Amino acid sequence: MAILVTGGAGYIGSHTCVELLNAGYEVIVVDNLINSSQKALERVQEITEKKLTFYKVDLLDKAALDNIFQKENIESVIHFAGLKAVGESVSMPLEYYHNNITGTIMLCQVMQKYGVKDIVFSSSATVYGNPETVPIKEDFPLSATNPYGRTKLIIENLLKDLYVSDNSWNIIMLRYFNPIGADKSGRIGEDPKNIPNNLMPYITQVAVGKLEYLGVFGNDYDTHDGTGVRDYIHVTDLATGHLKALEKLNEKPGVLVYNLGTGKGYSVLDMVKNFEKVSGRTIKYKILPRRPGDIAICYADPSKAKLELGWETIRDIDEMCEDSWRWQKNNPNGYND
Ligand code: NAD
Ligand code: WQD
Repeated sequence: MAILVTGGAGYIGSHTCVELLNAGYEVIVVDNLINSSQKALERVQEITEKKLTFYKVDLLDKAALDNIFQKENIESVIHFAGLKAVGESVSMPLEYYHNNITGTIMLCQVMQKYGVKDIVFSSSATVYGNPETVPIKEDFPLSATNPYGRTKLIIENLLKDLYVSDNSWNIIMLRYFNPIGADKSGRIGEDPKNIPNNLMPYITQVAVGKLEYLGVFGNDYDTHDGTGVRDYIHVTDLATGHLKALEKLNEKPGVLVYNLGTGKGYSVLDMVKNFEKVSGRTIKYKILPRRPGDIAICYADPSKAKLELGWETIRDIDEMCEDSWRWQKNNPNGYND
């Protein structure tokens, strides 16, 4: 029996494949490579010295997906595949709704046809919108401020409705906070196709000299140094959360939702300082105006995942910065090197 990993060539997917293979799971990846490289999967196999099966297939191609379910013995699905750039989602809402929502519907239709009803879904802390207080608990009010976030909210609701219609589904929705870091090997990591939107890849690209300086989006927030505070989580810790979720699915639990974060908040300038300390590089930065849509502070209460999944993070902020740096230093042009 195998685990189907949609979006398995991507940043979080590839790291999860490493942990799955190391734990002895059989892994089948479906990815259209729209935001990733097949090299990531070659390196996953090199790191683990284990094989996985790869299909270059778009989730929107239902016939191709059907063929995979017919051919393979799939036990459950981890569903990472989706478009994730907030700014792009504002300018291309139709593409985001179509890809993320229709893609999920097609996946669930094919799963239903083959009686595969166990799924782990990649949701996001973005579904909490601008929270009134921190730390954020799973039962906080949900809202979205951009089309990307709305696709996550819609998919969460869609999956809940699916369960109501048929209680034999088991669905775990994981709300990730801010994943950074990379596998210890330095062979896989985050490889943004264009100029990075997210903080850590921007910092690492300044550190290797690909970008001149970091723009810090606002220093007038109500935080300890005025810059935005986030809950950064090591991607390998995030990956192990998926293995715990798969184990939980064996208990046939119905619908569950968990925050995956550390419970600690670091500001933009904290991240710059930590990165400089572990890398020995100076990160030039300039204070810029706030980025529209950004919130001041966001960090998780991860206690539900600890209690019910037996999962907690073990890698601290220094390790996250060190591992991000090793990946970028060894692969200045990502998978194009
Ligand atoms: P990523 O872009 O690196 O990985 C997504 C993968 O899905 C890519 O390999 C892409 O090629 C593939 N894909 C996209 N549309 C597809 C389709 N229609 N058919 C087949 N493959 C398709 O992103 P990531 O950072 O690894 O994120 C994985 C998931 O986690 C996404 O759903 C994302 O929304 C969610 N998430 C990410 C973050 C983050 O900050 N990275 C935070 C919260 C949630
Ligand atoms: C972190 C902090 C910025 C870049 C986004 C999505 C969210 C989720 C994770 C998918 C903020 C500041 C950033 C830069 C900066 N993705 N920053 N200069 O905004 O918390 O979350 O990624 O689900 O949905 O919105 O992450 O890394 O973009 O920003 O000052 O060049 O760094 O203002 O305070 P964010 P981020």
